[in-house]
Amino acid sequence: MRLDVVTIFPEYLEPLNVSLVGKARARGQLDVRVHDLRTFTHDRHNTVDDTPYGGGPGMVMKPEPWGEALDSVLESGEGEPVIVVPTPSGRPFTQELAVELSGKPWLVFTPARYEGIDRRVIEEYGDRLDVREVSIGDYVLAGGEAPVLVMVEAIARLLPGVLGNAESHRDDSFAPGAMADLLEGPVYTKPPEWRGRGIPQVLLSGHHGKIARWRRDEAFRRTSENRPDLIERCDPAALDKHDRSMLAALGWTEGPDGRFWRPGRAVEE
Ligand SMILES: C[S@@+](CC[C@H](N)C(=O)[O-])C[C@H]1O[C@@H](n2cnc3c(N)ncnc32)[C@H](O)[C@@H]1O
Repeated sequence: MRLDVVTIFPEYLEPLNVSLVGKARARGQLDVRVHDLRTFTHDRHNTVDDTPYGGGPGMVMKPEPWGEALDSVLESGEGEPVIVVPTPSGRPFTQELAVELSGKPWLVFTPARYEGIDRRVIEEYGDRLDVREVSIGDYVLAGGEAPVLVMVEAIARLLPGVLGNAESHRDDSFAPGAMADLLEGPVYTKPPEWRGRGIPQVLLSGHHGKIARWRRDEAFRRTSENRPDLIERCDPAALDKHDRSMLAALGWTEGPDGRFWRPGRAVEE
């Protein structure tokens, strides 16, 4: 997979040389290219921002350097990339989107600073390419570089051969399939006792069916506690009889459509 990042802080992307992503780069599984937006400016001060039309506080990133930078990136490769524009006003970055993007051969990220990029840049490339405006959460950061690090790590670990154990993301929280709307439960390793605390005996039983059941029960318990909104949107077809009784034991009520709700919680649409 090829990844291009256009930024005014190339050094902010240094962590892409470390750990899992760094190793994937070293092995040639990821071709990461970081471009300095300021090299696409033509004035003495390498200006990338200007005051907003309509007035107001803050600055807006000028369209010309972004246009030149993106044209140059597009010309340097074959085919069409997906352009990922980090912005708090974008669609949420989810595991589902990470899975989708991990199947693309080429991604271009455009982390901004200030109040964001002149809208015409998104429109210009959106007219001919797949452009996704994506938010990593309901908060505002100073720039899009940290969101790019977040997204690249989530995407890269899904690429074949990047994780040591190819199975290990199958049971992750949010993993498409049985875990789509569930959080992973607690995990344990050796020693069997630490500071007087043991581990659930079922994990020592060697009984794979019972262990899988316990893990799923714990996933429901944790999801119910930390993300009840996920329980509400659980696909009824993905729930077996035991799941249903577990949810009932956790205080959830099954509606006529098979979805679960909890008295006192307003159902989110
Ligand atoms: C200070 S923010 C701009 C916020 C913008 N004025 C707004 O309210 O939506 C500057 C840049 O940081 C990045 N950014 C900040 N928060 C983000 C988030 N939650 N998800 C993705 N990118 C974010 C984006 O690239 C954004 O253009």
